[in-house]
Amino acid sequence: MFDEISPTYDKLNHLLSGYQDNRWRKSAVKYLQFLQHEYPFILDLASGSGDLGAEFLKLKPQKIFSADLSLEMLKIDRQKLPEDINYPVKAEAEHLPFKTGYFDLCGIGFGVRNFENLDSCIIEICRVLKPGGRFVTIEMFKPAKSGLTNRSFRLYFEKILPKIGNTLSSSNFAYDYLFESVDNFITVQSYENLLQKNGFKILRSKNNFLGIVNTVFAEKM
Ligand SMILES: C[S@@+](CC[C@H](N)C(=O)[O-])C[C@H]1O[C@@H](n2cnc3c(N)ncnc32)[C@H](O)[C@@H]1O
Repeated sequence: MFDEISPTYDKLNHLLSGYQDNRWRKSAVKYLQFLQHEYPFILDLASGSGDLGAEFLKLKPQKIFSADLSLEMLKIDRQKLPEDINYPVKAEAEHLPFKTGYFDLCGIGFGVRNFENLDSCIIEICRVLKPGGRFVTIEMFKPAKSGLTNRSFRLYFEKILPKIGNTLSSSNFAYDYLFESVDNFITVQSYENLLQKNGFKILRSKNNFLGIVNTVFAEKM
């Protein structure tokens, strides 16, 4: 599916998020700078077309590994980042082809929701990070069951967004999948609990939009 939507992915991301997606990535990187940690080796996991990796360049890394399942996405990623720093790798989050304790930072932008076995991916991410390494997740989490947020979420994600997304991407289902993947995902609170259970300390959790789009900063203990 991600191979299929790769040509229109960036444009639609910007349009459907009201041009906020890059703002969320930038603000995540600003906070990582504020933490005053060194980030020589960075993993941009589920890197897609490389927008988060491109922001990570501001952290002055020696190497960024862009890891994704989709070759078509990696081809676009390759064009966005300098080739002496960026190492695109076809890999799945469940089995990362990296040494234990190698990375100073792992970032995932709008990726964890797609992982089939989230627990084992979190364990893998913890493995490849150095102790004290940082893990940042930007994601659309399932909103709380009731209230205005839930009703607005359903109206926009279930009714409006699939019509625009499927038409503009020429896909019959990709943007229906987006609604289902958020609706079937866990809340940000459950995600934080999962990280804590698997060796991370939560540093900060930022609500970017209606409690649906959140950025979670964690540290490997
Ligand atoms: C919504 S895109 C996000 C791209 C990018 N990180 C961003 O900020 O826009 C999700 C990406 O996750 C990748 N993906 C899905 N499941 C994966 C897995 N198990 N391992 C690695 N990548 C995966 C897809 O191929 C896709 O490129």
